[in-house]
Amino acid sequence: MNSAILGTGSYVPNRVLTNADLERMVDTSDTWIVERTGIRERRLVEPGQACSDLGLEAAQRALSAAKVKACDIDLILLATCTGDAPLPSTACLLQHQLGATRAAACDISAACCGFVYALSIADAYIKTGMRHVLVVASEVMSAITDWTDRNTCVLFGDGAGAVVLGQGSEGSGILSTHLHANGRLPEMIHVPGGGSKEPASKDVLDNKRCFIKMKGNETFKIAVKSMEEAAHEAVNANSVAMTDIDVFIPHQANMRILKAVSQRLGLAQEKLMINLDKFGNTSAASIPLALDEAVHSQKVQRGQLVLLAAFGAGLTWASALVRW
Ligand code: ACO
Repeated sequence: MNSAILGTGSYVPNRVLTNADLERMVDTSDTWIVERTGIRERRLVEPGQACSDLGLEAAQRALSAAKVKACDIDLILLATCTGDAPLPSTACLLQHQLGATRAAACDISAACCGFVYALSIADAYIKTGMRHVLVVASEVMSAITDWTDRNTCVLFGDGAGAVVLGQGSEGSGILSTHLHANGRLPEMIHVPGGGSKEPASKDVLDNKRCFIKMKGNETFKIAVKSMEEAAHEAVNANSVAMTDIDVFIPHQANMRILKAVSQRLGLAQEKLMINLDKFGNTSAASIPLALDEAVHSQKVQRGQLVLLAAFGAGLTWASALVRW
C-alpha cells in the first residue's frame, strides 16, 4: 500500500521585502539579484511571529483540504532549521495549537531537504499501518539572516507548507523517496554559533556567528549535480522515463540552479514549477509551498507524475516521485 497526499496547504506572512528595499539596506541592485537568482521579492514575519505560527496556518489549510480532523492525526513531523526555540520541539507546540491530542510530534532537521526527508519518514509509517501523518515545513529564515551581508540576505524568505498523508492505493501516491547526506562539507552552508559548540554569547552575537554563512558559488555547482543525480534515481527506481514526468518541483534556491537542473534532465521549461521570484529560498518550506501553489493553480492534476528534488546544508540531497 502506498501513502497518498490527501491535502496540501501553505502560508506566507504578509510583509513583503522587495529587491528595491534591499537596495536601501546593502550594496546590491535589483538587476544583480534578478540576474543571479531570479528572486524579485520575499516575505518576512512580523516581530513576534514564529515558525510555529506559520506552520499552524499551513497545517490547518492542509487538514481542511484533506478533510481530516486534527484529532485524527497520529504523527506530526515538522521540518525546520529555524524552530521557535531549541527546546521543546516546534512540532510539540504545533500539536497543542492544532489540538492534535493523539499525535506524536517531533522536528526533522535536514535544512532545505527537510520536507523530503520528513515525507520519506511519514511514508514509511503509513506503509506500516499508521493512518494519518501531518508533514509540515516551516522556516523563519529571516531570524538567521545577517541583514548586512549582501551575499546571503538577498536569498532567503519566510514561509510554510504542509501535506497530510494517508493510506492510498497501489500505483498512486508516493512511489518512492531517496535520501542522501555527506557530512564532509559542513561549512558550505552553516550557522556556526548558538548551538552547543559555540553557545549563545555576546561574542557569538558580536561576531555574527548566529547567522547563516554560505559558500554560494561552490554550493551552486554541487546543488546542480546532486539534484540531477537524485532526480535520475527517482525515475530509475520506478522504471519510468524522464519524459514521463509531468511536473518537476525542485527546492527553490536559485533560478539558474533550477534551469540548469531541468536542462540537464531534458525537462521542458513548462514542466518546471517556479515561485522563488515571489518568495526567495524558504529552505525546507520551499517544496511544499511550491507544491501547494501548483495544486491550486492546477499545474498539478490527478494522475500526473510529480518529481520533487532538493538540496541543502549538511550536505543533504533527496528526491521523491509522486503519482498525484
Ligand atoms: N549584490 C551585488 N553583488 C553581489 C551580491 C549582491 N547581493 N552578492 C554577491 N555579490 C558579488 C560578490 O561579492 C562577487 O563580487 P567579486 O567578483 O567582486 O568578488 C560577485 O558578486 C560574484 O559573486 P559569486 O558568489 O561568484 O556570485 P554567483 O553567481 O555564484 O551568485 C549566489 C551567488 C546567488 C549565492 C549563487 O552562488 C547561489 O545561488 N548559490 C547556491 C545557493 C544554494 O543553492 N543554497 C542551497 C540551499 S541553502 C540552505 O540549505 C539553507
